[in-house]
Amino acid sequence: MTEWLKNSVFYQIYPQSFCDSNSDGIGDLRGITTKLDYIKNLGCDAVWINPIYDSPFKDAGYDVRDYKKIAPRYGTMEDFEHLLSEAHKRGIRILLDLVPGHTSDTHEWFEKAKSPFPSEYDDRYIFTKSVWEAPQEYRLVCGMSDRDGNYLVNFFSSQPALNYGFHDVKYPDWQFSADSPEAWATVEALKDIMRFWLDKGIDGFRVDMADSLVKNDDDKLSTAKIWRNIRKMMDSDYPDAVLISEWSDPLKSIVNSGFDADFYLDHPGNGFNALFRKKTDDDNLSFFADHAHGDIDEFLSDYLPAYWCSMDKGFISFMTNNHDMPRATFYMSDHMIKLTHAFMMTMPGVPFIYYGDEIGMRYRTDLISKEGGYARTGSRTPMQWSSEKNLGFSDADPEMLYLPVDYSDDAPTVEAQEGRGDSIYENIRSLIALRRANPELANDSEFEVVLSKSGEYPFVYKRGSFTAFINPSDEDKTVDFDTDGMKEYFFIGGFEINENNVVIRNRSFLLLRHE
Ligand code: NOJ
Repeated sequence: MTEWLKNSVFYQIYPQSFCDSNSDGIGDLRGITTKLDYIKNLGCDAVWINPIYDSPFKDAGYDVRDYKKIAPRYGTMEDFEHLLSEAHKRGIRILLDLVPGHTSDTHEWFEKAKSPFPSEYDDRYIFTKSVWEAPQEYRLVCGMSDRDGNYLVNFFSSQPALNYGFHDVKYPDWQFSADSPEAWATVEALKDIMRFWLDKGIDGFRVDMADSLVKNDDDKLSTAKIWRNIRKMMDSDYPDAVLISEWSDPLKSIVNSGFDADFYLDHPGNGFNALFRKKTDDDNLSFFADHAHGDIDEFLSDYLPAYWCSMDKGFISFMTNNHDMPRATFYMSDHMIKLTHAFMMTMPGVPFIYYGDEIGMRYRTDLISKEGGYARTGSRTPMQWSSEKNLGFSDADPEMLYLPVDYSDDAPTVEAQEGRGDSIYENIRSLIALRRANPELANDSEFEVVLSKSGEYPFVYKRGSFTAFINPSDEDKTVDFDTDGMKEYFFIGGFEINENNVVIRNRSFLLLRHE
């Protein structure tokens, strides 16, 4: 387990929308550099930046054209190196986004592979032997190249899948096995890209669709073998660098593949949704919904087995949100969001704050899709810094902006919330400080459920000498509890500490500490 990850709190930056330093309407690396002190002041000591590589941006940069080049709209390699060294000076680590499963269809490898003339990249992607062969079980793009074959895509049609082989080869005339030299040549190409950035001194990668490498690999055994091989390289040559997976399956990612942490994503029916995002047309059924009646067991029955199997090897990462899902404000009031932040900052795992969530930025439902964002576009709007032009994001004319800023009268800004004791910003800032000041609340410290009853509130858990009580419901709750030696340490809402019980008021959070 990489040492520094035990205490880190991350900030996620969607570079298009964070800070525009050259007034062209889109965020850039120099803009990020000017905000490092802000990130530090918030209490974060690590940053994950969404892809900054050269790309045609059909999927906001997850369609990489050149892995070793900075997209001109974000600046130059010098700008990146400057950002990295300024971040390191402040004790902030930088993670880039590694996209291992696919490239853009404009990547040089693909340009060569799709041509009818032989090249060294002919097996870098997955082509059928002829265009007349198109088995329905695969997502194939048909008849789009002069090479006589259809190709497999990983996500959008502009993102051809790289060839890491098939775990279970069904069509031997065009599928390579996961052990084939052709598949391992792709692994070596990926390692070369990783080395390029790690040699520059970055602190690791968030890994996009980490489970997507080998095809027909239901149990992910061959995919895990690749990541273990990469882990070996990291352990021997970059022992301080970390790999954090977009996978949401800690057994496969952390235990079997050697990832340092794995995101708890909003997968259908899982514990993340049960906590924060379980909404139907006419009801909000998550545990943290306003007027909540969600079930904590739906979370625990999913989370605990994953936590137990991975706790000695890596971390499950809670995030306030990310660039792929509606912001929390779409589901909850600002008050309830504060409770979720209290929960995340007192649970084990590596916490991630998505830019703007620290001030409760809204999810916008009125925007046209941008760069393959579709419904995700509403969570990718410019950061709201101040009351200045474009809310401090950019000096450009408003119509030039990558996405419009939130022009509503009550749009939250950092400026309006800084120093205001009851703001979302000051709430999360205090919580981060509290987590970082207390080793018992560290990412890897003990965690124990004290009270959880299916369909009932509150939820009570212990971290060393701390006990946290969370009651998002509309009713006050009384918990039998020996309060001898316990003192309140942090709270949101109201409570009462009696000799043998604790009353936790409705919509409240309380952290007690044994003195
Ligand atoms: C997951 C990324 O988070 C998402 O934004 C992207 O569209 C897909 N992977 C494809 O790379």
